Amino acid sequence: MSSKPIPPTTVDHLLGNISQAVIDVLKKAAQTGWDFFPPHTFNYKQDNLATVNNPYFLHYPSFATAYSAGKATGQGEGVDIKWRAHVACWAAHNAAKLQGDFVDLGVFHGGLAALVFSYLGPKAFKNRFYHLVDSWSDYEAGLLCEAEINSGIKPPDYNYEDCFNEVKRNFKLPFFKIHRGQVPEILRLIDSRPLAYISINMACAAVELAGAERLWPSLVKGGSILLDDFAFPGHQTQAQAFYEFAAQRGVEILVLPTGQGLIIKN
Ligand SMILES: C[S@@+](CC[C@H](N)C(=O)[O-])C[C@H]1O[C@@H](n2cnc3c(N)ncnc32)[C@H](O)[C@@H]1O
Repeated sequence: MSSKPIPPTTVDHLLGNISQAVIDVLKKAAQTGWDFFPPHTFNYKQDNLATVNNPYFLHYPSFATAYSAGKATGQGEGVDIKWRAHVACWAAHNAAKLQGDFVDLGVFHGGLAALVFSYLGPKAFKNRFYHLVDSWSDYEAGLLCEAEINSGIKPPDYNYEDCFNEVKRNFKLPFFKIHRGQVPEILRLIDSRPLAYISINMACAAVELAGAERLWPSLVKGGSILLDDFAFPGHQTQAQAFYEFAAQRGVEILVLPTGQGLIIKN
């Protein structure tokens, strides 16, 4: 593995070189609810991912309970993201063996935090905080790039105010610390603490990168950064930024078929 930054042209090539034929087949499949393929072709078919591989985690009782807890927050109503949720549970389970707080940058309704908390249980938070960081307000003007705006990152019907009040009601246990403010500035409240798990889901490359740069020194060895939409279509700006971030720190991003990116600090 090279620790040198990847030249932008190489990354563009990697991200942009999907054949039109493949795109057309996938579009057709998505439009027809994946029924374009013969019945029972896939063992998993949601959230832009269809595979014949076995999603064993769907049979873990702890996963089912945790997934329901995440859904109960109202986040992603009508949309299922079970494989992404499984990855988050895995990263959190790994981090729970380490000393250090947990952080969600980009909380929205708190679906991910509720999932992770339910999966690990309160004992995992006996000696750590779970920081929920979000502005619960509109994006600051000029931060989203054109590709991000075009991919519909900020639907006009988000009601952040209601969402904030809900989060305050739903996350009352003492180890949850709710921080309302703009990343990266608000991170001054937590960046002196050791961190074991950082989930980043703010869907804006500039802000996500600033958050990761600010918190990286606090991340303990073996701790993880989970990027929710790293390989999503329309998020190439974010992928470019994080490839450079990772290369500068000598770590590699695990690109997952769910669209997530996973970094373990080693
Ligand atoms: C669009 S939501 C993420 C939604 C998520 N992808 C989902 O599937 O529900 C992005 C979140 O990041 C937060 N956010 C965006 N920019 C931020 C910033 N500079 N500081 C703190 N939070 C921010 C927003 O308030 C919002 O709750």
